[in-house]
Amino acid sequence: MARAVSDVDAAVARAVSDFEAAFGRRPEARATAPGRINLIGEHTDYTGGYVLPAPVPLITTATAAKASGRELRVCSSELGSASFVLGAERRTGTWVDYVAGVTHELAARGHRVAACDVHLRTELPLGGGLSSSAALEVALVRALAQLFELDLDDREAAAVGHDAENGLVGAHTGVMDQLAASVGRQGEALLIDCSTITTQPIALPKAIELAVIDSGVRHRLAGGAYNLRRAETERAAAALGGTLREIDPSDPRLAALPDPLGRRGLHVASENARVLGAVAALGNSDGEAFGNLVDASHASLAHAFDVSTPELDRLAELAREQGALGARLTGAGFGGSLLIVAQAGRGREIARRTVEKFNARGGCAAVVLTLP
Ligand code: GLA
Repeated sequence: MARAVSDVDAAVARAVSDFEAAFGRRPEARATAPGRINLIGEHTDYTGGYVLPAPVPLITTATAAKASGRELRVCSSELGSASFVLGAERRTGTWVDYVAGVTHELAARGHRVAACDVHLRTELPLGGGLSSSAALEVALVRALAQLFELDLDDREAAAVGHDAENGLVGAHTGVMDQLAASVGRQGEALLIDCSTITTQPIALPKAIELAVIDSGVRHRLAGGAYNLRRAETERAAAALGGTLREIDPSDPRLAALPDPLGRRGLHVASENARVLGAVAALGNSDGEAFGNLVDASHASLAHAFDVSTPELDRLAELAREQGALGARLTGAGFGGSLLIVAQAGRGREIARRTVEKFNARGGCAAVVLTLP
């Protein structure tokens, strides 16, 4: 899945010419960050649990140059143009909040950002469940760090993006996406223990191939459902007097919680166990065991966590009928993408046939990528 350097260079070259077209001069800084898939461990990061994302070879490029005045002007090939006064960032409820959130958080951490022009260009489907927002945040932090010689590393870049999302954007997300975009390496998964924020690279065995299908249904995290799920898990943990990570999925106290808290807690507790099982299965190159855990994750997200959609359920079912070892929604849910696990050499074909059968009944799904 590692992407040829020349290919990344070509994406950056396109971003540079976009900057020139928008602002009439050369950018002085350029930086990239990838989107991610999450192999398993969904809605566990903000509960201090385990997650297993992997960066994908689709990137966002941020280009920037200093300007005079007090404004940041931003232009994006996909999103439009806007500007705001640095130091007076306010929530607008639009994509600009991701940019303003980053400059606001950089300033809050003592990093000085002055007037500049920024261009953003992405290869990621927006709202497609591959974390285009974290890629934007991390690429932007990196470009601004270059431009203004800010002293921050990849972990702080992830923290700035995470704070921007939880602050100005108002989506109470965990730290998985930003860490995957900043610390993750192409061709590997990243096990994150979200209570200690420790990370460990996990090799992807040659025996499996992964494919991602965009269901064609868009999601938007700042819309209340995601924050509501998070609040429910917090209430479940509080009712049990601890963190959900310490709860055994078979603990009878879970079933005794009022609905939906018991189901929310059951999902998180069982999903944490599945992440650790998946790491073991990948270590043993056991695609079947990994696929079974992926299927179990989807069922739990659909029935205990209530974040699937009829389209994602149907796509998962079709993928299994076509011979996938496992299939699950990846990312927050409420739309977005499906991850397919297949035997090496079969993923692309299974994904193609899944989409063909789904779209034959009026869907608008598309294969986004296959790995490796
Ligand atoms: C979004 C959030 C992540 C995580 C996932 C669900 O991608 O940004 O922090 O909570 O949803 O696992």
